[in-house]
Amino acid sequence: MIEAPFTLDQYIAEQQKCIETALDRCIPPESQDPSTIHRAMRYSLFAGGKRIRPLLAIASAQAIHDAPAGIESAACALELIHTYSLIHDDLPALDNDDLRRGRPTCHKVFGDAIAILAGDALLTLAFEVLSKLEGVDAERRIRLVTELATAAGTAGGMIGGQVNDLEGEGKPPTSELLESIHRAKTGALLRASVRMGAIYAGANAGQLAALTSFGEHAGLAFQIVDDLLDVEQSSEALGKTAGKDARQKKITFPAVYGLDLSHKMAEKERLAAHAALASLGERGERLKQLADLIVHRHA
Ligand code: IPE
Ligand code: IPE
Ligand code: MG
Ligand code: MG
Ligand code: MG
Repeated sequence: MIEAPFTLDQYIAEQQKCIETALDRCIPPESQDPSTIHRAMRYSLFAGGKRIRPLLAIASAQAIHDAPAGIESAACALELIHTYSLIHDDLPALDNDDLRRGRPTCHKVFGDAIAILAGDALLTLAFEVLSKLEGVDAERRIRLVTELATAAGTAGGMIGGQVNDLEGEGKPPTSELLESIHRAKTGALLRASVRMGAIYAGANAGQLAALTSFGEHAGLAFQIVDDLLDVEQSSEALGKTAGKDARQKKITFPAVYGLDLSHKMAEKERLAAHAALASLGERGERLKQLADLIVHRHA
């Protein structure tokens, strides 16, 4: 057995290796007919994402169970949904972005039609992966499917948030609109990441409630920081186009509260995420470190 990695960096490197291997197994090879779509799916998926959502799912499962075998396969479903959402977010009809994960966006390389289909394919595959999880009873598989579908959906989920984000462009940035956009477009999937890990590992109601609260705070912190990075970092550092939110008149934390207050709010969410884990004691340590990473990251 591999000895438990010690530092956060070692832990992340170890888990990322498992995640990459599991993702590679999920996607048909490029040579598989029709090869264009498999090339496009792989192009966007293996472009160096941080894998924050699978990492949260794995750490959450490990907070409940010492060795949650096979969790990386369930965690892959989150990354498939996330990557699909990025491909579609970048399309000319949405944010119209040319750069993603340090590369030209999927539609720039493969054209709009194949990029739309690559997103559709990743979305569909996510649910196929969950439905086929080995060693997980049918009831838990259904709960995982429900979690992911709800988080990616329209009412309070990712697509609903994307709609509000797009329809909010140019509107007066109010705090209510801002929070509802962010909780849905990004927060829902991060919350689901933590909850899916917990459900996978058989968390009881109290544990699930604590982890859900953690996921909500970490999820909001994540998008506050994404908004801050858009203002404060270069495109080169981010691997995506910086400074676009202001140009597109998006409703963001810096637009509503300014930079200083937004930093303070991210910090407040980080501490609230930590506090939510109090009942888990030592077992919550990795998740706390991931919340720190979410708030203190530079890309
Ligand atoms: C960016 O997500 C898009 C948002 C939901 C804010 P990430 O910052 O997790 O992007 P990758 O996966 O590392 O590229
Ligand atoms: C996207 O939010 C959230 C998704 C559901 C993909 P953003 O539009 O802020 O993400 P970036 O900044 O382009 O990565
Ligand atoms: Mg967007
Ligand atoms: Mg965008
Ligand atoms: Mg952004």
